[in-house]
Amino acid sequence: MKERSLANGKGALLLVVSCFLVACGGEGEGPSATTADAAQEVPGQLTYRRFCFSCHASGAAGAPRVGQASAWEGRVAQGTDVMLRHTIDGMPGMPPRGMCRQCSDDELRDAIVYMVERSQPN
Ligand code: HEC
Repeated sequence: MKERSLANGKGALLLVVSCFLVACGGEGEGPSATTADAAQEVPGQLTYRRFCFSCHASGAAGAPRVGQASAWEGRVAQGTDVMLRHTIDGMPGMPPRGMCRQCSDDELRDAIVYMVERSQPN
């Protein structure tokens, strides 16, 4: 799950990845399927966009910025479970559950994995 296509994750590449994940060409998937539809199939992306983006896209409040590998290195080294625990409990500058009170633990984990994958050095 560390291909460049995920790190860049846009447009046609994203479509290809989505097809790979959900088995393309299924029912109702005509040529009209938009990039937005496909984007929802990437685990964690929707959660990220709705709840985590506000801080993690810009690095607001000292948040590790998505796309900046150095900001994530030490955090990733802790392991996903530890990062998930910190996200659930909250950290200085980050409210508990990253402000997504309705997110399940699995949804938070998916969002974390999504952010980390987008932050890999190329
Ligand atoms: C209000 C701003 C804000 C929002 C919203 C937010 N974060 Fe954060 N996040 C931060 C800040 C600030 C840190 C760094 C905290 C620190 O190192 O003291 C952080 C750190 C993290 C870390 C690293 C944890 C670690 O162990 O080092 C993860 C993972 C994370 N956030 C996930 C998420 C997820 C998932 C969401 C959305 C569900 C989210 N964040 C939403 C501000 C935010």
